[in-house]
Amino acid sequence: MVYACPRWIGFSSVLVASASLQLVLSNLITARQDPCAAIGGMTWVSPKDVRACYASVALEPKVKTNVIEVINKTLAFHASLNYELQAPPPYNYDVQEDLMADLARISVTDYTSEYDFHVALSRATRRLNDGHCVWKYACYDALFVNYLPLPLDLLEDSEGHQDVYISSEAFEVASTGFPDQIDFWQNALPDNLRGQLESLSGAKVLAINGRDPFETVDANAEIWGGYQALGTRQNAFFSSYLRSVDGWTYIPGTFARQSLPLEDQVELTFIRVNRTSPETITLPYRSRLGDTTTKPITDTASWRSSYCVAQPGTNGQDLYAPSVPQPPLAPTSTSPAVMLHDTPLTSLGSAQFYMLDDEKTGILVIGSFEDNDWDGFTTGLYNGLMNLKKIGATQLIVDVTNNGGGVVCAAAYLHRLLAGRKSSTDPQAELDSKIRAGPLAKAIAGFFGTGQNVDPDNLMLFNPRNMVDGNNQPFRNTTNWLEPSVDIIVNGRHDSFSRRIGPRCSVAHGDWPIVPPIEPLFDTKKVVIIGNGKCASACGIFSLTMAKHEGSKTVVLGGKKDVKQKYCGTIGGEQWHFPALDSEIKTAKLKDHPLAPPDLLVNGVFGFVWRLSFGIDLPEVPAEWQDHSPDLSLPLTSQLVNNPMAIWKEVTSRLLS
Ligand SMILES: *[C@@H]1O[C@H](CO)[C@@H](O)[C@H](O)[C@H]1NC(C)=O
Ligand SMILES: *[C@@H]1O[C@H](CO)[C@@H](O)[C@H](O)[C@H]1NC(C)=O
Ligand SMILES: *[C@@H]1O[C@H](CO)[C@@H](O)[C@H](O)[C@H]1NC(C)=O
Repeated sequence: MVYACPRWIGFSSVLVASASLQLVLSNLITARQDPCAAIGGMTWVSPKDVRACYASVALEPKVKTNVIEVINKTLAFHASLNYELQAPPPYNYDVQEDLMADLARISVTDYTSEYDFHVALSRATRRLNDGHCVWKYACYDALFVNYLPLPLDLLEDSEGHQDVYISSEAFEVASTGFPDQIDFWQNALPDNLRGQLESLSGAKVLAINGRDPFETVDANAEIWGGYQALGTRQNAFFSSYLRSVDGWTYIPGTFARQSLPLEDQVELTFIRVNRTSPETITLPYRSRLGDTTTKPITDTASWRSSYCVAQPGTNGQDLYAPSVPQPPLAPTSTSPAVMLHDTPLTSLGSAQFYMLDDEKTGILVIGSFEDNDWDGFTTGLYNGLMNLKKIGATQLIVDVTNNGGGVVCAAAYLHRLLAGRKSSTDPQAELDSKIRAGPLAKAIAGFFGTGQNVDPDNLMLFNPRNMVDGNNQPFRNTTNWLEPSVDIIVNGRHDSFSRRIGPRCSVAHGDWPIVPPIEPLFDTKKVVIIGNGKCASACGIFSLTMAKHEGSKTVVLGGKKDVKQKYCGTIGGEQWHFPALDSEIKTAKLKDHPLAPPDLLVNGVFGFVWRLSFGIDLPEVPAEWQDHSPDLSLPLTSQLVNNPMAIWKEVTSRLLS
């Protein structure tokens, strides 16, 4: 803080200044006893100090037992569990995790701190490479985010060689995103480079921590999780872009942003632009408290009460009990900058429409299928596409880069708009699925088998009124729809599932504000879906049904040339979080069932796959581990990287024109 002239400091500012001075002094005094007070009230701290705070809290045995029991019993509903013991080709090297065995091992391992226990649990779930099935705990995950002002790119040069580079926009992004920290990094550079961080932008990286950069990329791909395909996990290391509700967002990649304070510094060897000799520097990571909306912590007690103990909403509730206030959302991390300047035709939250200057290629960029305004979102999609057609678009690029999914029915609506009414879209464009049918699931479904109207307001997700069978016939609403179940053996283990369940995104159900025209809006063979492989869930279902049913083309941007890219992953079907399941259990009056998970004691959330979608090529097995190879893998060059307009033109010239 700069006080240019004391005369101009208002009275209240002086009070604030002296109050914060007192805070700093008292922090210094209490820090000896409380490592969390040492980072209290601060925005930027060293990762080491964050770890000292995190590691100062011992693991309470009752917390350990509770978290393991909640996850273990919730896993009985995770439809992918036994499939993930060993995925079939082409994911046979990517997915081979026994999560139940991990839990058994973790439960008999001693951990010196709750943080170490959390990292062990988090790593175990991440090894599934299934972003739907993860353990997140707001006490640690993304509370402090570890940053480095050097996002990296993997680029191909004019001779076809691929190398890792510091992003050419690295300095611009870091200095706009972190104006309050950039000087720290400027001063942390060695003497000959001090203050010249900008000159590192665009440098070719020869080594990370003295080793080939791809050793670090691959080590990261091993622990990051999220997607089955190695190529997609490698790509997550590098920078990319996202069209989010906040506008164009720069994603720094997992090298430059980590959700836990794992690393203190990195040693980089590089050759700067227009130079010939390599230089080596060591640059520290800095940890930033969540984002500007994150409630600061002052000491251990305030951190634990705000972020670690269970909050309203951590657990479910009987849906017919008087309502309980909803919790604040867990802190999320924001990304620094915005970088696209072309003016869109229409903007609707996470979707935008553009027209290329060839006057025939329309662009829909859609970063998410999640939107609270269902009517506005679907109407906006309809109007935007109609508008593109009106001004002459005869072909379409749908850019789904970093689209993590959202509402499956929104994706099905887009599919139906594009493809018109045909057997693959009528009555719906979604995939059939199945639900895991363990004893507790059957007991919840059995709640509806009593002949009574037990869920008059249709609040329960287990309510058969919300289901149709594999022939799109509704279930009788007073049957236990999980009986009889289908017993199969998956990877050598006995498992039990529902009959085939149809989706519920049908136009016939009348929940569209605008009923799509019968005729397709575009020739679906002239629709190209492009992304970086990070297209999950609803986005994955949209992409693979468009590709496999409608002949649309798929493109993956970036990736190492000798690694096969996939245009989507982590299909799932429908993800739930623990509180939703807990609400079903409580509403069905089954909390005393021996298999019911207890209430969670900490502010964590466990996600799992409730419905597992069937595929198209092999309609009797899950889509999750079927092949999703693109029509075109387009290596990134310095002209294309993070330049959507250039990417759209390049893809048009290669696949449409
Ligand atoms: C998880 O639950 C199963 C029963 O479904 C039980 O056999 C196993 O011991 C439990 N594992 C742990 C670590 O508690
Ligand atoms: C590198 O050299 C080229 C050609 O002389 C010049 O246009 C460019 O500005 C230089 N870049 C930097 C960062 O020095
Ligand atoms: C079954 O569903 C119908 C509406 O579809 C409703 O009128 C009826 O009350 C329901 N019966 C029970 C027992 O839930």
